[in-house]
Amino acid sequence: MGILAEDIERVRAATDFVAVAGEHIALKRAGRRWQGLCPFHAEKSPSFSINAEEGLYYCFGCGVGGDVITFVREVEHLEFAEAVERLAARSGIQIRYDTAAVSEERQRRARLVEAMGRAVDWYHERLLSGADAAAARNYLRSRGYDGEVVRTYRIGWAPDGWDDLCQALKLPADLARDTGLGFLNKRNRVQDFFRSRVLFPIFDVRGDPVAFGGRRLPEGQGPSGPRSGEQGPSGPRSGELGPKYRNSPETPLYSKSRVLYGLNWAKSAIVETDEVVVCEGYTDVIGLARAGIGSGVATCGTALSEEHVRVLKNFARRVVLAYDADDAGQAAAERFYEWERRYELDLAVADLPAGMDPGELASADPGALQAAVKGAKPFLTFRVDRLFDRSDLRTPAGKARAAEAAMAAVREHPSDLVRDQYVMTVADRTGIEPARLRGLLEGRGPAPRAAARPSRPEGPEVEALRLAVHRPEEVAERLHEVLFVDPVVLAGYRALCSSTTLAQAIDGAGPEAASLLQRLAVEDADVAADDVLARLAEEAAKRVIAGLEAEARRTGALTEDVGWLKLAIAELREPATGVDATGRLVRWIVDRFEVEA
Ligand code: UTP
Ligand code: MN
Repeated sequence: MGILAEDIERVRAATDFVAVAGEHIALKRAGRRWQGLCPFHAEKSPSFSINAEEGLYYCFGCGVGGDVITFVREVEHLEFAEAVERLAARSGIQIRYDTAAVSEERQRRARLVEAMGRAVDWYHERLLSGADAAAARNYLRSRGYDGEVVRTYRIGWAPDGWDDLCQALKLPADLARDTGLGFLNKRNRVQDFFRSRVLFPIFDVRGDPVAFGGRRLPEGQGPSGPRSGEQGPSGPRSGELGPKYRNSPETPLYSKSRVLYGLNWAKSAIVETDEVVVCEGYTDVIGLARAGIGSGVATCGTALSEEHVRVLKNFARRVVLAYDADDAGQAAAERFYEWERRYELDLAVADLPAGMDPGELASADPGALQAAVKGAKPFLTFRVDRLFDRSDLRTPAGKARAAEAAMAAVREHPSDLVRDQYVMTVADRTGIEPARLRGLLEGRGPAPRAAARPSRPEGPEVEALRLAVHRPEEVAERLHEVLFVDPVVLAGYRALCSSTTLAQAIDGAGPEAASLLQRLAVEDADVAADDVLARLAEEAAKRVIAGLEAEARRTGALTEDVGWLKLAIAELREPATGVDATGRLVRWIVDRFEVEA
């Protein structure tokens, strides 16, 4: 992290969370809380809640929660340290960094980014004016890329030399390696990674250059016509054609499963339209933009990953896949449905003409590309429609085959409500009875999972933990971990016990328990502690009784403890004896637990 822990604390304490959040969302006071529309998911009624005294938030809609630093990170897409720095500046706090090593780490990143930036400029300049780049310029022109496109996307040309870039930038070996711009060859000389390729620089979401995608020129269009396989210092690499695209290796700056090409340019359009168009390649992103669709990003040679989705869900609720239609149809359905559920996204597929990618369609028929994105269909609709498009529905056997294939796709959807709607669609299109089609859904594996909402049923355990969060002084001495059996509540309770502040407990707890504590922190705890404790003790006592009775069934002897416990439960419920009985009962259960342990 780098920033002194005590300075992080000072920043937290000095920050008015409600004022910070108020810059992003409208907040209304509700009792001791502040409420508003959640900035992290689309909603119409407010489920986002802030506990200003504790400096914590929680959303009952999507389950996100945290403190003001988390909030700023998420809402502004910042790293932890950046968020703290921003808040510190806001409150006029001077922060200090704890170790030289950490600021060194950040300086190192800055050095890498700086080197990448110089490489972007150098390659770009080379494309614009290099005598050896004429073929590359012709190629780009033949694709319809004019000077403006080339400048906007900072497209470059890597010359066909061994180390032109590394020499020109005077890149030391470690920088060359850590940026992926070069590598040490067998003769221990720094050699350029990209040679004789058109380069598309890849920027991270903030616009820092982190990698390149390099396209070779089509055969016969190289700088000196067809290559003759001339020899370089360490072998005949120069004549090699290699793959169509070569991408930078993974580096400290570049993670393929996280970075999305184009997000730096597209993010405002994505937020504005609440929709992101995901395609496969650099030229697709550029084509989309040229067709007036500024919200395109590309995964660059990898499949869409959960990390990509996690990045995108911060910007938009709707993800439109604009892959070649066949590729899109093959995409892993189950992961898509899971992501839709988990991140509350709509995943749709643009219906591109078969065999066409957005880049090609943008040049051939931009209007058709716009229509395909606009008319993107839910993933399952897309699949079912494609199956029907390919089927012969003129004969009963053809209809039956189409229905079977379609229902096999429908079966994969986790929601029975959704599946049922598709039953009707398929029935309409094939004339087959819905009841018969439903039969094809039977035997579908596990029942649909519960909704994404992080709902934890209320009960004395949760209520007791809520009290422990809000009024620890009142309940601390009266609670014990033996009273909790729900693993998440128990984990939350343990985290509280081993921390001095709530923030510390949240930091130290696992993700589920942390989320529960965040939620409880923004809820009111205006109940009588005695009641909650009595019910908690009663549940614990009943568990002990059940255990003793099970033992009795094995041994044939019921201990008198059961009688005592039942009496204690009766006393619990009496207002006159309740408080004392609760105390006695809890002590008894704790003793027994400690003897056993
Ligand atoms: P495509 O083969 O569809 O290329 O690969 P493209 O984007 O349409 O490019 P043009 O229009 O032919 O120039 C899609 C993406 O897959 C990755 C690249 O990121 C590319 O943009 N890819 C492709 C590779 O990494 N290596 C390859 O050899 C080919
Ligand atoms: Mn393509």
